[in-house]
Amino acid sequence: MDPVELSDSRLLLRLPTQADVDEITLACQDPELQRWIPVPVPYAREHAAQWVGETPSSWAEDQELRWVITERRTDGTMSGPLGAIGLHARDATMREVGFWVAPWARGRGLMTDAGRVACRWGFEELGLGRIEWWANVGNNASRRVAEKLGFQFEGTCRARLLHRGSRVDGWVAGLLPGELT
Ligand SMILES: CC(C)(COP(=O)(O)OP(=O)(O)OC[C@H]1O[C@@H](n2cnc3c(N)ncnc32)[C@H](O)[C@@H]1OP(=O)(O)O)[C@@H](O)C(=O)NCCC(=O)NCCS
Repeated sequence: MDPVELSDSRLLLRLPTQADVDEITLACQDPELQRWIPVPVPYAREHAAQWVGETPSSWAEDQELRWVITERRTDGTMSGPLGAIGLHARDATMREVGFWVAPWARGRGLMTDAGRVACRWGFEELGLGRIEWWANVGNNASRRVAEKLGFQFEGTCRARLLHRGSRVDGWVAGLLPGELT
């Protein structure tokens, strides 16, 4: 698939570039991010560079459709990357959403707005029949974002997720067409 940018009045979701690597590297030092997302630890600049470098083929192969989240400043210019969101292919009409926001940009509704933009596009343009959310049990901030988007909590699956070599219990929620809030 050819990459697309998504936007609303506040945000621009665009492809990551090598110019974003330092900010992504800094964000991924956050212990809370490392606690909930199985990024490599320690997280080095080369990991961010690799993630950015893989993005064009991930789109071309229709695997993870990923964006960095940028925000319009009051002077009209766009911020650097404040987070990332991806829609991972699971089957022909279902994708799993994954996301993070840099610690310095949290608590301002950024992820909820970005999730709304990406999920709406997934339903309207990709024709998805379901978007799934998974998180390690206890990730209440992520669960709150999912709930605010209209995801229905569906349960806890034992040892469902692989987190840096350990199997951990997973929470799952699902969003169907018409349920996005
Ligand atoms: C989860 C995450 C993406 C949220 O980003 P954000 O931009 O702060 O999200 P929003 O501001 O849109 O919404 C956050 C909501 O979670 C709530 N919240 C934050 N921390 C919380 C916690 N520890 N327990 C419960 N709710 C929490 C906020 O109050 C807010 O809800 P509200 O609007 O009802 O007050 C961010 O915390 C993050 O990157 N965490 C680390 C990585 C991660 O966990 N990714 C998801 C993996 S499944």
